[in-house]
Amino acid sequence: MSNLNIGIILGSTRQGRLSPQVGDWVKSVADQRGDANYEIVDIADFKLPLLGEADATEQATAWNAKLAELDGFVFIVQEYNHSISGALKNALDFARDPWANKAAGIVSYGSVGGARAAEHLRGILGELSVADVRVHAALSLFTDFENGAVFKPADLHLVNVNGMLDQVLAWSGALKTLRA
Ligand SMILES: Cc1cc2nc3c(=O)[nH]c(=O)nc-3n(C[C@H](O)[C@H](O)[C@H](O)COP(=O)(O)O)c2cc1C
Repeated sequence: MSNLNIGIILGSTRQGRLSPQVGDWVKSVADQRGDANYEIVDIADFKLPLLGEADATEQATAWNAKLAELDGFVFIVQEYNHSISGALKNALDFARDPWANKAAGIVSYGSVGGARAAEHLRGILGELSVADVRVHAALSLFTDFENGAVFKPADLHLVNVNGMLDQVLAWSGALKTLRA
């Protein structure tokens, strides 16, 4: 069986965002496992306008095509006002079928590990028929980022990132059979 394709989705798009540092770390942990094709998927690259605000046929087609290539997802989630960012919600709204019957894991960050944003995301994923796995890495803005800016994750998070990836791969493989 060929390797599964897992997208590591950066959930923030603002200038100065921390998500690329977190995404790169998750990818380096994942790549060391050598058990799937992992890639960073940066929402910012797709230049999605707010849904319905402008003709976005080209951007929506590119975004949906990228999601269609993927068998599973790892969402890099940051807490904005106790929820996910507007950019991530908009990107989730911009596709439907390419999300369905796939698995997802969450790596979140915020003052309390991005926990509230992660729980909101789980509710949205249910509506999109994405199976979110239980194990979740929750990073603290206070202890996992030096001066709130330079990502220095505590070693303990490796356990949860690997546990989350174990579950994402198992469920992504199982759900692929539904889409065949
Ligand atoms: C508009 C806004 C709202 C925020 N609200 C929260 C919040 O409710 N809880 C929290 O823990 N952090 C909150 N933060 C802090 C962010 O989690 C933090 O800035 C994080 O680095 C944002 O992710 P990013 O750097 O990838 O954009 C907020 C940040 C912004 C910009």
